[in-house]
Amino acid sequence: MSAFRISTRAGYTLIPASLPRVARPYSSAAPSFEHITVSTPKPGVGLITLNRPKALNALFTPLGLELGDALRRFEKDDSIGATVITGSEKAFAAGADIKEMKDKSFADAYGRDFIQMWTDFVHATKKPVITAVNGYALGGGCELAMMGDILYCSKGARFGQPEIKLGVLPGMGGSQRLTRAIGKAKAMELVLTGDNFTGAQAEQWGLAAKVFETPAECVDGAIATAEKIASYSRIAVKAAKEAVNKSQELGLRDGYDHERTLFHGLFGSKDQKIGMTAFANKEKPQWSHE
Ligand code: CAA
Repeated sequence: MSAFRISTRAGYTLIPASLPRVARPYSSAAPSFEHITVSTPKPGVGLITLNRPKALNALFTPLGLELGDALRRFEKDDSIGATVITGSEKAFAAGADIKEMKDKSFADAYGRDFIQMWTDFVHATKKPVITAVNGYALGGGCELAMMGDILYCSKGARFGQPEIKLGVLPGMGGSQRLTRAIGKAKAMELVLTGDNFTGAQAEQWGLAAKVFETPAECVDGAIATAEKIASYSRIAVKAAKEAVNKSQELGLRDGYDHERTLFHGLFGSKDQKIGMTAFANKEKPQWSHE
């Protein structure tokens, strides 16, 4: 019988792989989560589902703290190779919580670095994160979706940066990430009008790596990709993610140099020997993740 491990405080437990996804909670990561659910649907895959349905998963601080906690737990867990973040069919997230924000002063916002934690914990995540977007992904929801390393969505997803309608602008990286992803012309139009765009458009414009017919297919597709990534050497995956992300920050020459340094560095890993030897011997590599 195929099985996979979940970590518990007492160690690891083998769980039959045939159990439905919801029946496989991630024990050690779920002390008392209230606004997210956390599970391991496939070997090597962590799944975080935003679960604040009454507010369409609006991103308020308690949810952010839980999301950061879950991401950190998966980051530290050697059995996890990639994480999927998703929401509900109706909403990935309808934005930062407007009711939490509306009475904040400049001192509250600037002085206390309001919403900075959202970008901080994603930067601190070295393992790949796939965001699976269904329903509304507006404002901070769109920004959270774009913080992932790979964005998948369903056709009917509704993206947008509507902050201009509230008298502000995107505050979790939207003006930067959207512009890098789809170019200045479209990003400027979307940020200044606050207009929504569909999942199908997100894929056409290069924001989404794949678009799916249905929400269920989107989440399953993200989990399948996460499982594939988790089946490779963790060391090589970490370096590959770093190399691609550097392309967003460095000039071309510095980017090449950084990539080559990482490439050369991998010749010091056991997995480079394991991978190339397995190819030469026509065998399947058994990664050591070292
Ligand atoms: N903050 C707080 N509460 C929100 C919310 C948000 N961003 N989005 C939805 N909700 C709440 C609604 O207030 C409502 O709560 P009540 O039942 O208590 O009234 C509940 O979720 C359901 O919402 P609606 O009744 O509005 O649902 P709908 O289906 O009619 O409309 C919607 C859905 C079009 C997404 C609409 O809710 C909406 O426009 N939401 C706000 C979207 C938005 O402006 N997001 C950007 C926020 S600012 C931001 O994110 C800043 C940043 O960059 C960091």
